[in-house]
Amino acid sequence: MTQLAPPLQGPFLARQSGPLSGTLAAPADKSVSHRALIFAALADGESRIEGLLESEDVLNTARAVAALGAGVERLGPGSWHVKGTGGRFTTPEAPLDFGNSGTGVRLMMGAIAGSGAGAVFTGDASLSSRPMRRVTDPLELMGARFASTDGRLPATLTPSTLHGIAYAPPIASAQVKSAVLLAGLGAEGETIVTEHHATRDHTETMLRAFGVSLDITRTEAGIRISLPGPQSLQARDVSVPGDPSSIGFALVAALIVPGSSLRITGVMDNPARTGLIETLREMGADLEITPGPDMAGERTMDIIARASQLHGVDVPAERAPSMIDEYPVLGVAAAFATGTTHMAGLAELRAKESDRLAGTADLLGGNGVEAEAGEDSLTVHGKGPGLVVGGGMVATHHDHRLAMSALVLGLAARQAVSIDDAAMIATSYPGFADDMKALGAILEPA
Ligand code: S3P
Repeated sequence: MTQLAPPLQGPFLARQSGPLSGTLAAPADKSVSHRALIFAALADGESRIEGLLESEDVLNTARAVAALGAGVERLGPGSWHVKGTGGRFTTPEAPLDFGNSGTGVRLMMGAIAGSGAGAVFTGDASLSSRPMRRVTDPLELMGARFASTDGRLPATLTPSTLHGIAYAPPIASAQVKSAVLLAGLGAEGETIVTEHHATRDHTETMLRAFGVSLDITRTEAGIRISLPGPQSLQARDVSVPGDPSSIGFALVAALIVPGSSLRITGVMDNPARTGLIETLREMGADLEITPGPDMAGERTMDIIARASQLHGVDVPAERAPSMIDEYPVLGVAAAFATGTTHMAGLAELRAKESDRLAGTADLLGGNGVEAEAGEDSLTVHGKGPGLVVGGGMVATHHDHRLAMSALVLGLAARQAVSIDDAAMIATSYPGFADDMKALGAILEPA
């Protein structure tokens, strides 16, 4: 479908770098990119997507919607044209391979089930070890028929007729919420999802933009989203805002590399995504934020980040959904802070691309920073600026966010920090090394 720039391969390392400076245009948001492709593929008519994130995860979603009958064409870098199916996916002959992407496979399980089509869902070793019942259970309550071993991939969906349900996900997960709502588009009757803790709301915002009628109310039980079905989507153009998760790496690097001053532009400013910024501010980060234009129904912001003396804080469990992907890099910031940082409510980190709770504690421990992973918490005993030894070879467990976090640590540690494999960085942020080097970071094959 498209040629990717060759991804980084093999061991990589980061060395102590001079002040980072310059401007980083935030890479496109992964969550919005997946949704833009899926919603455009379900819609009636033709949509143009600008600034799509061309990472491996998103490209797998593009291949999947093409295999289901959408017309998908890349017009130029980040610029894509999608001819929608009018809600009528066709059951593909071959299995759909979602690679490393939990968002891709879980949202598509809901979208395909709702469209009345069937599919075989596969993924790489990491995705095949992740739990899928969180999505197949509610979809089965709606009438979908899935077969899998032990609730993991590969999973087979048989074409089914769905009806609406009222569902309160037992875990805070935007993927689960989104899968149920997408299935509800093709279901008879009302589909209701009640979330106890607010998770990212891009599905709700973007479905409305594609002409879907949704009712969102706050109740005592939490946020209640109801969607009368069946409903169709109307094609529309989407410009993808910058990813608050991906910019976390440059942001923390700017704070911990002495003398740095960076400007990061076009970052999505959504309270369901900005827990890292809130936490870094509490830690004493020097961040200057100015508003930018709205994109895809989201506010954006520019951030100036300057090297800062950070101090440890307690990060409350309620904040976890708004920074669920940012704990590894927050752990790195905490290593350079004075005092202890305690992060609570992290059980979900164990079900990510790897066990990120154990992986983050090991990443820090292997570089001379004391860190303890509890059942669902992480405690980091900060060394203070200039005192992180580094020198470790970090096992990334094929996890992109552990890989990038370890390299950020190496930019400010005394000795170079290596990672076993940089290949997975391309799943979410293929431009990471080039972007960081342009700001002055020393990154190289090990
Ligand atoms: C995402 C939701 C989160 C997040 C993932 C993207 C999404 O997963 O970790 O990177 O786009 O909906 P959960 O919903 O499983 O927490």
